[in-house]
Amino acid sequence: MSPRPFVRLNMAMTADGKIATSTRSVHTFGSPRDARHLYELRASSDAILCGARTVEETNATLGNGGESFRRLRLRNGRAEHPVRVIVSGSGSFSTEARIWSHRFSPIHVWTGPTVTAARRQALQACADVVWTSPTDPIDLAAGLAQLAQDHGIRDVIVEGGGQLNDALLRAHLIDELHLTLCPRIFGGRTAPTISDGTGIEHITEAPGFTLKSLRRHGDELFLVYSRGTPLPT
Ligand SMILES: NC(=O)c1ccc[n+]([C@@H]2O[C@H](COP(=O)([O-])OP(=O)(O)OC[C@H]3O[C@@H](n4cnc5c(N)ncnc54)[C@H](OP(=O)(O)O)[C@@H]3O)[C@@H](O)[C@H]2O)c1
Repeated sequence: MSPRPFVRLNMAMTADGKIATSTRSVHTFGSPRDARHLYELRASSDAILCGARTVEETNATLGNGGESFRRLRLRNGRAEHPVRVIVSGSGSFSTEARIWSHRFSPIHVWTGPTVTAARRQALQACADVVWTSPTDPIDLAAGLAQLAQDHGIRDVIVEGGGQLNDALLRAHLIDELHLTLCPRIFGGRTAPTISDGTGIEHITEAPGFTLKSLRRHGDELFLVYSRGTPLPT
């Protein structure tokens, strides 16, 4: 198997597992401590990996979090800014997204083999790197392997959304899971959760995790799980 970066997934979720409201109008609900946790994780990661809808809907630029986190990155032996990787299998990611006007670090886009030539050209005009998976659905393990081999990426922090998380979890590509459990209930069948997509059918396919640490700050719980063994049948 090709070497790949160490992959952490970080999500803030409500007590009912939601990562946004059903209308998607609210997607930020953690405390300032949770925001710091996110930037600290970014500061020990060479790259950030996000799904197309997350980057569009949150107007994300995926930066380092400002001067103190820039210095932390340097102390951690990282570049000043993380490489930014956006997953967009069909190539639908908007060329008008806010991230394109913030050029502090390379922006990669991962697409699939079915992207039209016109969409590919449009993305190539914006992105520093467009990587096309040879397979549909995207071969996320191959994407991670080329990040390590071609771009020297050692650690990746995944920041959602639910569809991308689900594909990575089902492929057993998440080495460490950081969950901030926030004291809210959003409800709503259509509200995104930490893992949407297609999910799994059998318990043996469920990625297993081991609780590594649990800290309480105010009413929030900060949970860290490391990759474990799947549950027995
Ligand atoms: N609370 C939090 O911590 C948090 C964090 C992140 C996001 N969010 C919320 O989560 C919501 C977005 O989540 P989401 O699940 O709708 O979207 P998402 O996972 O961010 O993006 C989905 C899109 O990404 C591409 N994609 C994802 N996985 C893929 C795969 N395996 N293969 C190919 N393409 C893939 C596809 O793009 P194409 O359509 O181009 O094929 C797909 O339509 C937003 O409401 C956001 O605010 C909350």
